[in-house]
Amino acid sequence: MKWSTVLGTGSICMVGVDAAITLDLTSRQSIVDAASTVAYDLMTYYTGNRTGDTPGNLPDPYYWWEAGAMFGTMINYWYYTGDTTYNAVTKQALLHQTGDNGDFMPLNQTKTLGNDDQGFWGMAAMTAAETGFEDPPEGSPGWLALAQGVFNTQAPRWDTSTCGGGLRWQIFTFNSGYTYKNSISNGCFFNLAARLALYTGNTTYAEWAEKTWVWMNDIGLINEKFEVFDGTQNTDNCTSKDHNKWTYNTGIFLMGAATMYNYTNGSDIWKSRTESLITASKQFYLDGILYEPCEPTGKCNVDQRSFKTYFIRELAATAELAPWTHDNIIKEIETSAMAAVKTCTAGSTGTQCGLKWTTGANDGSLGVGEQMAVLEAIQSNLVDQAPGWKSDVKGTGTSSGDANAGSDSKTDSSQLAQIVITTGDRVGAGILTALVICGVIGGSATMILGV
Ligand SMILES: *[C@@H]1O[C@H](CO)[C@@H](O)[C@H](O)[C@H]1NC(C)=O
Ligand SMILES: *[C@@H]1O[C@H](CO)[C@@H](O)[C@H](O)[C@H]1NC(C)=O
Ligand SMILES: *[C@@H]1O[C@H](CO)[C@@H](O)[C@H](O)[C@H]1NC(C)=O
Ligand SMILES: *[C@@H]1O[C@H](CO)[C@@H](O)[C@H](O)[C@H]1NC(C)=O
Ligand SMILES: *[C@@H]1O[C@H](CO)[C@@H](O)[C@H](O)[C@H]1NC(C)=O
Ligand SMILES: *[C@@H]1O[C@H](CO)[C@@H](O)[C@H](O)[C@H]1NC(C)=O
Repeated sequence: MKWSTVLGTGSICMVGVDAAITLDLTSRQSIVDAASTVAYDLMTYYTGNRTGDTPGNLPDPYYWWEAGAMFGTMINYWYYTGDTTYNAVTKQALLHQTGDNGDFMPLNQTKTLGNDDQGFWGMAAMTAAETGFEDPPEGSPGWLALAQGVFNTQAPRWDTSTCGGGLRWQIFTFNSGYTYKNSISNGCFFNLAARLALYTGNTTYAEWAEKTWVWMNDIGLINEKFEVFDGTQNTDNCTSKDHNKWTYNTGIFLMGAATMYNYTNGSDIWKSRTESLITASKQFYLDGILYEPCEPTGKCNVDQRSFKTYFIRELAATAELAPWTHDNIIKEIETSAMAAVKTCTAGSTGTQCGLKWTTGANDGSLGVGEQMAVLEAIQSNLVDQAPGWKSDVKGTGTSSGDANAGSDSKTDSSQLAQIVITTGDRVGAGILTALVICGVIGGSATMILGV
C-alpha cells in the first residue's frame, strides 16, 4: 500500500503503523509483491545509472563494497521473484566495476580497496554464475571468470610472514588497516573458494577453503564455541583480538561450511562445523527475530546496518546446500521476515524500512542497508521455489570461466602505489598551477616557478 492510499483511509497512524506492506507467506504473489515494493525503495538510492554518474557506485555515505553487496541482492531478487526490472542496471553496474583485469580492482577505488571490498563484488559475480543470471556480452569476461579473477588475486596474498597465515584486511601497504587480519576478508575468500569448488569441481579451491578454515580456528578468530570475532592485529602476531561479533561474519562462514558439506558429498567434519555455526548464531536472535549486536545500543554505523542482509542471504543458501538444516532455518527466516516488514512504514513512499526488526515498528533509521536486509528477508522465503544453482559439475553451468583470470593483474603493491603517486602528482601539478596563477596576481610568479 502506498502512502497516498493510507491517507485516503483517514486513519493515518493506525493503518500506516499497522502494515504499509502486507506479507502472506503462504502466497507466492504476496511475497513477490512485498519484495517488489522494498526493491523499488532500495533502488531509489542508486544514482549510478544517471547521466554523468558512475555505474556501480552508490552516493555518499555508502562505500563501494556496499554497492557490490547491493547488486548481489538484486541478482537474488531476480532469481527468487523472476522480476527482470533491475537486471539491466545490475549488469551494467557489475561490468563497469570489474577493473582493467577482470578482478574487481578498479583503479578509482585503490585508496580504500580491501580484500573484503573486492570479495563482496566477487561473491556477487559468483551468485550471477550460480543462478544463471544473464551473461555479459561477447568480449567481456563471464561471471565465473570474474569470480575466479578475485580468487586468483587473493590467494597469492595469503600472508605467512605473521600469525601463521591469513589474509590481511587491506591489499596495499599504504592503506590503513594493512596490519589487521580480519574475519570478513578471510570469510569472503573462504566463501568464494568453497563455491568455486562446488561449481567447477576443481580441488584447488576446496584446499584453500579448508586451509582458511583451519587458520581461522588456529588463530582463535573462530573460538571453541564457533563464535566468529571481528579480527586481530598482526603487530602482536595475532595474539589480541577485537572480540566484536557480527551476524555477517558468522553468516559468511556458515554458508561456506554448508557449501563444503555439499561439495564433500556430506562429510561428517563439514556437517559438524555447519551445525556448530548454526548453534553459535542463536545469540543473534531475540524472540526468534534476527538482530545485529549494535542495535540495542543504537550505535550501528552505515556498514553495520547492512550486515543482516548477508546473514539472511547465507542462511537461505545453507538451507538448500545442507538439507538437514532446512526446516529450522526456514522457520527462522519466516519469523524474521514477518517482523521485518512491520518496519516498512516510513519515508516519502510510506514503505521504507527501518533497522530494528525486534521492535515491530519503524525506528527512523532508513537507508540502503535497512532496505537490503528486509528485501533478503522477504525474498528468501522463495528459496524452495527457485530453480537449483547451476554448476559445471552438474553439467548445468552456462557461465564462461577462466581458471587463470586475474593472474596478470597489477596486484603488486609497488605498481599500484606508483599509480597513486602519479595521480597525486597530477593533483600536485594542479596546486602548483593554482599557486602560479595566484602568484601572477601577487606579482611573484618567477619566484614560485623557480621552485
Ligand atoms: C536507472 O534505473 C532505474 C531502475 O532502477 C530506472 O527506473 C531509471 O529510468 C534508470 N535511469 C536512467 C537514466 O537510465
Ligand atoms: C573512475 O572515475 C571516473 C571519473 O569520475 C569515471 O568517469 C569512471 O567511470 C570511473 N571508473 C570506474 C571503473 O568506476
Ligand atoms: C606467530 O604465530 C604463529 C601462529 O600461531 C606461530 O606459528 C608463530 O610461531 C608465531 N611467531 C612468533 C614469533 O611468535
Ligand atoms: C584449478 O584451479 C587452479 C587455481 O586457480 C588453477 O591453477 C588450475 O589450472 C585449475 N585446474 C583446472 C583443471 O582448471
Ligand atoms: C562426490 O560424489 C561424486 C559422485 O559420486 C564424485 O564424483 C565426487 O568426486 C565426490 N566429491 C568429493 C569431494 O568426494
Ligand atoms: C547438495 O545440495 C543439493 C541442492 O540443494 C541437494 O539436493 C543435495 O542433497 C545436497 N547434498 C548433500 C550431500 O546434502
